[in-house]
Amino acid sequence: MVNRLRKAALTGDEIFATGMRDQWHAVCPSDFVARGDMKKIRRLGEDWLLFRQSDGTLRMLADRCPHRGAPLSQGQHLGDRVACQYHGVQVDGGGTVVSVPGMPGCNLEGKRLVTSLPVREVAGAVLAWFGTDPDAEPAPLELPERLTDEGISHFLCYAEWKAPWRFTLENLLDPMHGAFLHRESHSMFGGETSAKFRIRETDRGFFFEKTDQRGVNFDWVEFCRTGIDWVDLEIPYPPTAGPGGSFGIVGMGTPIDAETTAVFFWRYRRVEGWERDVWRFLYRTKLEERHWVVLEQDRTMLEAMAFDADQAENLYQHDLGVIRLRRLYRAQAEAQAKSLQEA
Ligand code: FES
Ligand SMILES: [Fe+2]
Repeated sequence: MVNRLRKAALTGDEIFATGMRDQWHAVCPSDFVARGDMKKIRRLGEDWLLFRQSDGTLRMLADRCPHRGAPLSQGQHLGDRVACQYHGVQVDGGGTVVSVPGMPGCNLEGKRLVTSLPVREVAGAVLAWFGTDPDAEPAPLELPERLTDEGISHFLCYAEWKAPWRFTLENLLDPMHGAFLHRESHSMFGGETSAKFRIRETDRGFFFEKTDQRGVNFDWVEFCRTGIDWVDLEIPYPPTAGPGGSFGIVGMGTPIDAETTAVFFWRYRRVEGWERDVWRFLYRTKLEERHWVVLEQDRTMLEAMAFDADQAENLYQHDLGVIRLRRLYRAQAEAQAKSLQEA
């Protein structure tokens, strides 16, 4: 008889805390795992093994040996498979047991006993499909067009924050903090410190935007659900930032666990030819450092907030985007928990 790990169904609260299932999430920068290397990584509250085969193909396996549950990440990289350190069982990148050296011909051989997540590498990052049914096909993934557009040049900035993932996304759906928290920054010093906001529906999510100011500060954000959740936003640059006009950010936040989040920000600018060279040069020599200062302001604030900060709030009109986001994720978490319990 063979056994594959089947955990008790997650509750709605657990899904809300550790992240939505049945969608793609950004996992880490591609260069976290070199060819022929492997790395343990925690995402959505579970341990995974990122494993890059010697032919360069990246795999993502549950970090649990199908024999007696030892972490595969303690094992040995054998090119196209990993050998568990405990008793030598070998598992390939698809999660199939290919050899049981201690007992050749054992009935575990040839069986797919380890969850292997579908992965893709896009714009310098690893994306993975976190399905509730490990055998089901992933949903189609439509990438943020800013990351695939040839006329756009971007840099990926990655960080891990000691804050729940919901705080990191709510921060992005809250443009007004730009005019306060980032008031002293190089890019968000201008404009009004009061505003009215509206939600504008789209076929893939919604815009949350100021009704009375555009192109001055952090004035709008678009939330998109295209198989993966992401935001797009734009912040004007001063003339000293070189040609190309405003810069944009594609942002994602992936739960590491209930308290920690992997954040991804692709900073981009629509620039081609010599302007692209100037942007890339200025970014590396001057702008990146300034951006990190701004990001540190976000990190410091979010990490300082109590874990239950959202349990005793008094919201006003500027928080409509945050409210919308919470409702949407709450409903999704409950629906996923229900279908898991029925499965
Ligand atoms: S636990 Fe991995 S081979 Fe025994
Ligand atoms: Fe911010």
